[in-house]
Amino acid sequence: MEDKIIRGSEVASDIREELKIEIETLAKQNVVPGLVTILVGENPASQSYVAAKNRTARSLGIDSTQVTLSAETSEAVLLELIDKYNKQENIDGILVQLPLPDHMDESKVINAITPEKDVDGFHPVNVGLMMLGEDCYLPCTPHGILELLIRSGVETSGAEVVVVGRSNIVGKPIANLMIQKRRGGNATVTVCHTRTKNLKEHCLKADILIAAVGVARVITADMVKEGAVVIDVGVNRVGETESGKALLAGDVDFDNVLEKASKITPVPGGVGPMTITMLMKNTVQAAKRRV
Ligand code: GUN
Repeated sequence: MEDKIIRGSEVASDIREELKIEIETLAKQNVVPGLVTILVGENPASQSYVAAKNRTARSLGIDSTQVTLSAETSEAVLLELIDKYNKQENIDGILVQLPLPDHMDESKVINAITPEKDVDGFHPVNVGLMMLGEDCYLPCTPHGILELLIRSGVETSGAEVVVVGRSNIVGKPIANLMIQKRRGGNATVTVCHTRTKNLKEHCLKADILIAAVGVARVITADMVKEGAVVIDVGVNRVGETESGKALLAGDVDFDNVLEKASKITPVPGGVGPMTITMLMKNTVQAAKRRV
């Protein structure tokens, strides 16, 4: 059973070692990659994601700054801040953690980040380039999933892939990347969502099933084909430990699906560490523009 588990934390650690070498090479050329993360409000999940991004960045030698703004901050103030970092030489990447408070227009904020510093790969310019298969910053979670599949030896070419979820951050981009003529692509992709009829029927056809819905354990064993590869993107808080730490569950009913899957990612320790690591990769890529 153990060897069925795709340990994202281990793959991510390998990639971080590769990045350290690139960062050392940049240092010899007097370039230290600079990242700024902007958190608006006090969403506990966002707080822990941003803290993890900063921690990882610093551990690699990336100069990472976290800016925390109150939930009441006006959109104009946030836009001004982004403009300041757009112009700042030593900042290579700007990340605004989503979701933003309701009074802010998310797409206006994303559009304000210069595409050259959009290390999340959310700006329409980068989304367009990704769709065309051209050089750009790939969005971190889908890029992390591709790397996990490639480095775990999963054949995507000709595979039936079913993506459950159509978010801009995961569902749409992973579907797009997996149909492209590239490594980790060449798949036949179906995207399921809240209006899909017969979700189970679609899921049962999947050689590779990607769950990105945000509902704990909705993908059950009866929805999974024997031998399928299951990638769980969900990070759902299902309770707290006695010490107040969040208890997490994925979108997949891991214990039961493990019996049927040929490979499966756990939560935590699966896709999550890959997302953060691909952000580091994008930040290093951004810093190379300064050499
Ligand atoms: N919220 C959930 N995932 C992400 C992500 O990858 N980047 C940002 N900026 N916000 C998120």
